[in-house]
Amino acid sequence: MRIVLFGATGMIGRGVLLECLADAGVSHVLSIGRRATDVRHAKLEQVVHEDFTDYSGIAERLGGFDACFFCLGVSSLGMSEQRYRHITYDYTLAAARALLAGNRGLVFCYVSGAGADSSEQGRSMWARVRGKTENDLLKLPFAGAYIFRPAYVHAARGAVPRTRWLRVFYIFMRPLYPLLRVLLPRQVTTGENFGRAMLSVARRGYASSILESDDINAAAQEESSHA
Ligand SMILES: NC(=O)c1ccc[n+]([C@@H]2O[C@H](COP(=O)([O-])OP(=O)(O)OC[C@H]3O[C@@H](n4cnc5c(N)ncnc54)[C@H](OP(=O)(O)O)[C@@H]3O)[C@@H](O)[C@H]2O)c1
Repeated sequence: MRIVLFGATGMIGRGVLLECLADAGVSHVLSIGRRATDVRHAKLEQVVHEDFTDYSGIAERLGGFDACFFCLGVSSLGMSEQRYRHITYDYTLAAARALLAGNRGLVFCYVSGAGADSSEQGRSMWARVRGKTENDLLKLPFAGAYIFRPAYVHAARGAVPRTRWLRVFYIFMRPLYPLLRVLLPRQVTTGENFGRAMLSVARRGYASSILESDDINAAAQEESSHA
């Protein structure tokens, strides 16, 4: 399986990257980001890209993939709607459309967030923008499209959030993870599970196109049972 990965320098993307590289069935990972990761691996190719609304300059490198794992994204905190929409909606749809051209059999997996608003009409700005992004992705003619809606993600080894306030948040939350798992088992997942779940849905699909945290854990379990 050949995978194109966005957001590999982020907390979730790093976990996904490490799972992909460890998977014997994955032959190649193309990471596209505004900077390279510190991971080096024979299966990993990295492209440093500047304009996430325009892929014409690297179009010839975007063919022959089986799956795209889109983990690029930001929190809306402190951001204008226009800027948040630009990164969340414009970047995602531009990448999706660029990949459609040369990959008709592609499965597209998008990392959204718990509480995204599929109606696109609610009061919460971030949830509307995520809902619109999800809805428009699901309309594209991919072989499969899956929306991942995590709540709390326990970081994979070596992975830290890129945003400073989230790094602080995770310093406090990390020791609480065993407790969260017991108290809120349906709201938490891990970076490792994220990667395995994406590999699972890329390989064998999933019963629904939207995966909440407990679906992510179930899909990861499914992947492990086939390993
Ligand atoms: N972590 C959680 O618990 C959680 C929960 C719910 C939803 N989510 C969502 O899941 C997604 C990934 O989360 P995360 O925790 O992995 O975030 P993260 O650690 O902040 O990583 C974000 C990734 O997106 C890239 N990125 C951000 N802004 C960019 C821009 N303007 N141009 C190009 N690349 C950009 C970052 O690249 P750089 O390294 O170059 O900055 C990084 O690779 C986000 O959409 C987040 O909102 C996360």
